[in-house]
This record gives sequence, structure tokens and C-alpha cells, in this order.
Amino acid sequence: MMKKPTVVYDATCALCPFSDRVEVTFRGNLKADLLFVGEAPGKQEEKIGAPFKGKSGALLGKLIETLGTTRDQVYTANALRCRIYKDTDAVKDINQALGLCRTYLDTAIKKVNPKILICLGKYALKTVMGMDQILKNRGRLISSSEYGCPVFITVHPAYVLRGATPDYPYKPFAQMNMKEKLLFTDFRALRKIIKNGFKDEGLDTSGYVKGMAKDLQQIKKSRLVAIDYEANTADIHDPNFKVISLSFTTERAKSVVFMMKNQKMLKGCREILENEKIRKAVAFRPFEEIVTKKKFKFDIQGPIHDVQEMAHLCDENFRKYDLESVANIWTDMKNIKDLAEGQRQDLWEAPEPLVIRYNGGDTDATFRSYGNLRDELKKDPLLLRYYVKFVLPVQDMLAQVYWNGCRIDINALKRSEKKADHLLTTLTQKAIDRLPSALKALHEKKGLKLSRADLIIDYLFRHKAGLRLKPMDEHITPKTGMPQTTEAHLQCFSYLPFVEYLLDWKQVFKIGRAHV
Ligand code: URA
Repeated sequence: MMKKPTVVYDATCALCPFSDRVEVTFRGNLKADLLFVGEAPGKQEEKIGAPFKGKSGALLGKLIETLGTTRDQVYTANALRCRIYKDTDAVKDINQALGLCRTYLDTAIKKVNPKILICLGKYALKTVMGMDQILKNRGRLISSSEYGCPVFITVHPAYVLRGATPDYPYKPFAQMNMKEKLLFTDFRALRKIIKNGFKDEGLDTSGYVKGMAKDLQQIKKSRLVAIDYEANTADIHDPNFKVISLSFTTERAKSVVFMMKNQKMLKGCREILENEKIRKAVAFRPFEEIVTKKKFKFDIQGPIHDVQEMAHLCDENFRKYDLESVANIWTDMKNIKDLAEGQRQDLWEAPEPLVIRYNGGDTDATFRSYGNLRDELKKDPLLLRYYVKFVLPVQDMLAQVYWNGCRIDINALKRSEKKADHLLTTLTQKAIDRLPSALKALHEKKGLKLSRADLIIDYLFRHKAGLRLKPMDEHITPKTGMPQTTEAHLQCFSYLPFVEYLLDWKQVFKIGRAHV
């Protein structure tokens, strides 16, 4: 029979600022291999008296099924045993409760003694491992010396549910957006870890070796190679710039790293780079091209694919500019910078095996990212066409510009700036003309500019003098509850002349005069 919810008052709870709230005890199989730690019970859990009974619980149940097990076979706990109200509870009270509640969690973990602990979200990560930065750490497997078991980190189901479409999680994986995919991607990695006997194979570096001339024959046969130079500085123009090593990956988890302390490249390495039939994958164009030109005096031939560029194309909201972030999302290799063991700035001095691990990790991550990103691009033929017909040639051209510089016709530039200014003024005027005078008066002081989100929100959604339209649920910022003024949301209202002018204005603003 379900235990009746109770208001607890034991010695620990007596010290807690939330001691008058309903306690929700942990549930599950005391012999479980998997112990999930969530955040805190919600309304539904408080009512029923057991963890993960609401929407987050339903999603968790579905995810647990993907591991080939069921809710009954696992154990579910929370960082907090009673409900918290993040908007009104003081942070210091929440922190105090977290500290006190840890006693219960600690007892439960020791009692269950799971083979793996799964932290769902930032509260769990903080309580179990004392760590922050959930999004940076998600997908990682780290070991807990305190509990003597590995800890897998992922986001909280509620985080994904905020902003998910109503058919989530019951739609096919391919149709999910990036955020919706997060948990399913992480649980896929978790499933692999469980299958491998709770070992993480993502960052297994045993397949990275020091390159010898004989290794080149095999690499030459490949039609795709991920390449990466390790250097003593990222500044190619530094007179002391030196290449430390060059890594090749043509197969997942296998990298061949050629050390270059005498700044000379083996003939066979050059043949690979110059072979135009071998596609190259890199993490940051045009670094490899410029290093090759400047240091070794030849050009890399064949198509060069930049995985960062591909990642930005597959997700326009991806705002990171480093290989680790790309790999964290697109591969099972998480936090590859850890391979440098803190010596990333000082690789010149680092022992050879560390350079091999680090450089090998970079090309392995590039290789894996390339494969997954290429598959993603292939799902959208138009995007793929745009990539092949536009992005690749433009990147080739920019690499040449980087090397040769380019001539700018200042007069033509000024003329087009003038044109853009004129167009922006006209579009602004046309859009502002559509506003009711009450709104114009209200916003006059702050400026009747189309760059002001509150003006747009007032007119479309908020102010009684405006249109009072209902914003689309999926375009409301969860934290603030405010409608977004993104292009995607505005497109839903493009039948309005105001929005039509605004969207045109945004286009011209983006390509024309970002400073206006
Ligand atoms: N969210 C949690 O973190 N825990 C629960 O028990 C329910 C929702």
C-alpha cells in the first residue's frame, strides 16, 4: 500500500527552514544497479508521496525503458525530500535544506550500493559530486570515491520538458529538436556504459599511437581523414610558432600521431595532405591550411570540412566555438580537454604520451563529429545543398583571403551601407506607422526602434493598446514567461504588415548595418 504523505519532524528536519512541508521519501528496489537522483518532489509527488510521479516521472520512466529495465527495478531519490518554490524560497534556505537533506540521500546510496549513480540535473550534481555546470558536464561518467561507483551526469527531465512540443517524448528521435534529443542521447550513452559493465569507453585512448612511416600506407588508403596539428601557440604569426605533432584519424577510437620536434614532415604525411582524393575533416578552418602553407610550404588538397561550421549549420542556436563543445553534443567523447591533464597551454613541455593522447583525441573527436554531423545534414537535402554549394566554397575563399588578404572597394562599401541605412529607415517608418498612437506615446521616450523587444511584445502580445495576440507556447521563454521576439516566433504572425516590415528589417539589419 502507498505510504500516506506525512509532514516530517525528525532531528534533521527540525533544523530545516522547510520543516513544515510534506516529506516525500525515496522509492525503489533496494538491490538496484541504477540509482537516479533528481531534484525535489513536485506537486504530484507531494500528493502521492513518492518521487517522480508527474510529467518528469513519465519521461524518466520512458528513458529507463530504453535502458532495458523498468522503474520497479531501479531506485529513485532526490536531492531534496520536500517541495521547494524556486521563485519565492530564499536561495540560502534552499542551500540549507540541500545540506541537511544530503544525510538522507547519503544513507540511501550507501544502503542500495548501486553499480552506477545517475545525477539528473544541477541539484543532483551539486549534492552528489559538489559540482556545477550541468550542461558542460552532461554525458560524462566520473567516479565517486565517496560512494565507490561511477556517476553518470545528465540534465533533469523537467529542463527538457520546458519548451518541448506536446508529442514529446512519443515522436521519433529524428523529429526531436536538439534539446528534446539531449536525454535520449545521454541515455543511449548510459545504455552503452551499462552494457560495457559500467565502464565509459568514450574517452578510451588506448587506440592512439605514435606514428611511424609504416602507418602511413593504411592512412593513404582512406577516403576520409581527420587531421589536426598541435602547436606551442595558437598564433601562427608568432615568430616562435612551432608544430609539436600532427595527428590523423581514419577510424573511430584510433589515431596515429606524428611527433614533429625537428619541424620536418615525413614525405608520407605530406602525400596524404596533398592527395585531393582524400577528404579532410578539421576542427577549425583555416588553421591546418595556414600552418601547412607557412611551416611546410605546400597546400592541403581535397575538400576540407570544418566540424564547427557543420555543427553551427545543424543547430543555429549552438553558440560555442571549440571542438570540445561540438564533441560533447555530437559524439560520445565528453570533455576532451581533460585529455591534456591541465597542460593544454604548455604542450611543448608535455611528455610525449600526453601529446599523443591529446592530439589523438582531437582528431578522433573531429572524425566522430564529422560522421554524425554529415548524417544529420543528409537528413535535410536543402541544408546539405546549401552546405556543399555555398558554405564549402565560401570557406575555401575565406581561407585564401586569410592568407592573401583582400581588396575592398571602400566607395562601393560606403554606397551599400548608405543603401542599407535608407532601407532600414524606410522599413522602421512603415512598421512604426502601424502602431496605435497610445503605444507610440508610451515608447517615444525609449525610442521607436525595431531593435526594442519590449516595443514588439507590447504591440503584439502584452499591452491593452496593442493586438493582445496569444503567443505560441513553444516560443515563450520558460524562466520569464515572456513571448520571444525571435524570427521563428515572428514568422507565425507574418500575415501582419507590422511583422512583415519587422522581418524584412531584421534581414537588412543582419546583413547590412549591425550598428544602426
Ligand atoms: N522532479 C524531481 O526532481 N523529483 C521528483 O521526484 C519529481 C520531479
